[in-house]
Amino acid sequence: MNAKATADYLAQLSSSYSPIYGQAISIRPMLPDDLDIETEFVQNWSAETRYNRMFSAGSYSSPERLKKITRIDFSRDMALIATVMLEDKEVQIGVARYVRREDGKTCEFALTVADAWQHRGIGRALMLNLIDTAAQAGIESIEGEILSSNKPMLHFMRSLGFAVEFSADGPEIRHVSKCLAPAAAAPSTPAQGASAATQ
Ligand SMILES: CC(C)(COP(=O)(O)OP(=O)(O)OC[C@H]1O[C@@H](n2cnc3c(N)ncnc32)[C@H](O)[C@@H]1OP(=O)(O)O)[C@@H](O)C(=O)NCCC(=O)NCCS
Repeated sequence: MNAKATADYLAQLSSSYSPIYGQAISIRPMLPDDLDIETEFVQNWSAETRYNRMFSAGSYSSPERLKKITRIDFSRDMALIATVMLEDKEVQIGVARYVRREDGKTCEFALTVADAWQHRGIGRALMLNLIDTAAQAGIESIEGEILSSNKPMLHFMRSLGFAVEFSADGPEIRHVSKCLAPAAAAPSTPAQGASAATQ
C-alpha cells in the first residue's frame, strides 16, 4: 500500500459513538504517535487484567516492546484503539489487535479494556470493529487463546459466534476461533457503538 492508500484505509476505520451514559468514544487505528497513551494505558492495568491478558503477572511494558507494538504494519496487521477526551487530553481506554499468521489467511487477536471502563460495551465495540476489519482484509479465520478461568471473556466470545475448544497448550487455556465471511460479503462500514468493533 502506498502512503495515500494507507491513509485512506486508516481513515475508513475510524469512527466514534456516544453511549447514553457518558463521553464520546472514538475507535481508530493505532499510530506510532500513540506510544505515550498506549504506555499509560498498559501501565494502569490491574493485576487481574494483566493476568487475563498476558497469562502471567510479568511485565508487558518495556519501552522497547511498547515501541514495537505501536508500529503496526497495516498491510498485514491491525490494532484499533478506543479513546476518550478527558480534560482536553486523549486517553486510551482499550485496544483490540490482530496479527496475521504466516499463512496470510488466519490471525490471532487480543483485546483489553482499561479496568475503569470495563462492562460498558467498549470491548464489544472494539471486537466487532476488529472482526469487520479482518474480514475486509481477506482474513478467513480469527483466533485467540483465553484462560479457562476467564469466564466472562469466554461467554463474550460465544456471544460473538466464536467456537470455544480445548487447547493443545493444556487445560488452563481455551482456543477460540471464528470463521469470517469473504470480504465481498462483509459490510463496508465499520459497526458502531454497542452494536459495533486485536495482537
Ligand atoms: C474481557 C474484556 C476485554 C471485556 O471488555 P468489556 O468492555 O468489559 O466488555 P463489554 O462491556 O463490551 O461486554 C462484552 C461481553 O462480555 C461479557 N462480560 C463482560 N463483563 C462481564 C461480567 N462481569 N460478567 C459476565 N459477563 C461479562 C458479556 O458477555 C458482555 O456482553 P453483554 O454486555 O452483551 O452481556 C475486559 O474485561 C478486559 O480487558 N479484560 C482483561 C483482558 C482480557 O481478559 N482479555 C481477553 C484475553 S485476550
